[in-house]
Amino acid sequence: MQKHRIIIDTDPGQDDAVAILLALASPEDIDVLGLTIVAGNVPLLATAKNARMICELAGKPETKVFAGCDRPIGRPLVTAEHVHGKTGLDGPDLPDPVMPLQEQHAVEFIIETLRAEPAGSITLCALGPLTNIATAIQKAPDILSNIRELVLMGGAYFEVGNIPPAAEFNIYVDPQAADIVFKSGIPIVVMPLDVTHKALVTKPRNDAFRALGTKVGIAVAQMTDFFERFDKAKYGSAGAPLHDPCVTAYLLKPELFSGRLINVEVETSSELTMGMTVADWWRVTQRPPNATFIGDLDADGFFDLLTDRLGRL
Ligand code: RIB
Ligand code: CA
Repeated sequence: MQKHRIIIDTDPGQDDAVAILLALASPEDIDVLGLTIVAGNVPLLATAKNARMICELAGKPETKVFAGCDRPIGRPLVTAEHVHGKTGLDGPDLPDPVMPLQEQHAVEFIIETLRAEPAGSITLCALGPLTNIATAIQKAPDILSNIRELVLMGGAYFEVGNIPPAAEFNIYVDPQAADIVFKSGIPIVVMPLDVTHKALVTKPRNDAFRALGTKVGIAVAQMTDFFERFDKAKYGSAGAPLHDPCVTAYLLKPELFSGRLINVEVETSSELTMGMTVADWWRVTQRPPNATFIGDLDADGFFDLLTDRLGRL
């Protein structure tokens, strides 16, 4: 399989952390060209710090980390400390980062990289609000044809909202950015709550992380111990949903996932349904398909892959 050369746009977040660790643990399959950081789960200062702590936890302090947009395109920032804790990475006690942030702004890095690399050779992986990616598209529309694929965690159809009743957090934080992205024509694969709510870290699965006995395995188990509270309390879930790692796992083993090429549009007018992803799952409209919307996964296969790869770090 040809290696994926990727930029991960992220708002760490415990589940972002696991997605990043999975990518950094898979150098034979994935080249991580850089992490571009966005405000989301917690403000930008914290997400930029967390991203570097994760890279150092992985033993990859040479990873390039770029700070990006500190607020959504058209709305005040909404954060999720009630889910991820004050730091955004509550659970393990990780040391402050030593590695520096890159000087360049994340949006400029995205544009420069896509212009410099061969067309169709770069995959964007979006794990948070789409502010950086939409801003890059607006500043440099010429990059659109250079993107191999955008795999993003966001949205929902059967699962509806996880923060407001009608919208998933990443899309809800920056609906205008999501609207730009979904209308851009980029080949998009969407990992909505419909599939991520099936990737639950049950106790046996978290015990398997801890049983790795490594810094990474124990830290991931501690992240999950913290992160699961919100979903267990709200949904009665059997464990924390690993939203963002579905994006990385899709690059490694797409056969673990199933979905449909359909039309997906984003609500940007009504406050009642702001950020809702209106997915034409049953193809009842003439609206052109613009995204592969994933609805299911082989959860045991997903966790086998994840535990095996994390065990390498
Ligand atoms: O709704 C889940 C998404 O919002 C995940 O990406 C999580 O990290 C938060 O950013
Ligand atoms: Ca995230």
